[in-house]
Amino acid sequence: MRSSGDIRPTEDGSVVVLRDVTKVYRKGRVDVHALRGVSLEIASGDHVAITGPSGSGKTTLLNIIGGLEPVSGGRCIVNGRDLSRLNDHQLSVFRNRFVGFIFQSYNLLPELNAWQNVALPLLYAGVPARERYRKAMEALERLGLGERASHLPAELSGGEEQRVAIARALVVRPRLVLADEPTGNLDSRAQAEVLSYLKELHQTGATLVIATHNPDISDSARRVVRLSDGTVVSS
Ligand SMILES: Nc1ncnc2c1ncn2[C@@H]1O[C@H](COP(=O)(O)OP(=O)(O)OP(=O)(O)O)[C@@H](O)[C@H]1O
Ligand SMILES: [Mg+2]
Repeated sequence: MRSSGDIRPTEDGSVVVLRDVTKVYRKGRVDVHALRGVSLEIASGDHVAITGPSGSGKTTLLNIIGGLEPVSGGRCIVNGRDLSRLNDHQLSVFRNRFVGFIFQSYNLLPELNAWQNVALPLLYAGVPARERYRKAMEALERLGLGERASHLPAELSGGEEQRVAIARALVVRPRLVLADEPTGNLDSRAQAEVLSYLKELHQTGATLVIATHNPDISDSARRVVRLSDGTVVSS
């Protein structure tokens, strides 16, 4: 049985297919070519690290795969859908149901405490209140934050806020997880907790795509895609 959140790979089993994707940002009169023709296929259930120097296009690539930004040229097909053909509403449904984002800007809601922030995607998904609380607490405990559940974001350290944001991204058990430097602000213990949580998600069949400079993360990936100046140099 398939639910609407299930992965729908293309015939060859790819969940993400990029064909000659370009991305140009216009900065005043200057065009910044962030991606210069990226073609890439990511198989269902794969665990991919995206590496490459600062400015090589890693974040841009994740934003495009997650439907946060449109391509300038080429095609980006995720879960069998060409994202440039979806309207804003369809894109937000795609993001909510299918993608877990672990991004550098945490965007926690300041007036909600930690567990309420984590429970938010469950609220959007129509999960009953008691179950929302139970699942949010379970995710926070997994990330070593059980005792911070009733703290507001302003009462948490930067690393704790980041882990709350990770719990929020993962609480719905998304089928595609896009992570941008997920261990950036974390000490080694918190980093190990995040990595073990990601590994567990991967074992349940989720596809992971993680942009990182951290060799521990890229070493544990099944595949490493290296970008340089907006192009794939090895994959
Ligand atoms: N919103 C934007 N407007 C203009 N230029 C942008 C924008 N976002 C990214 N860029 C430019 O696009 C290029 C690729 O940026 P991107 O953020 O994808 O790199 P990155 O590989 O993630 O780097 P880092 O490792 O530093 O996070 C850079 O030259 C950057 O300056
Ligand atoms: Mg980046």
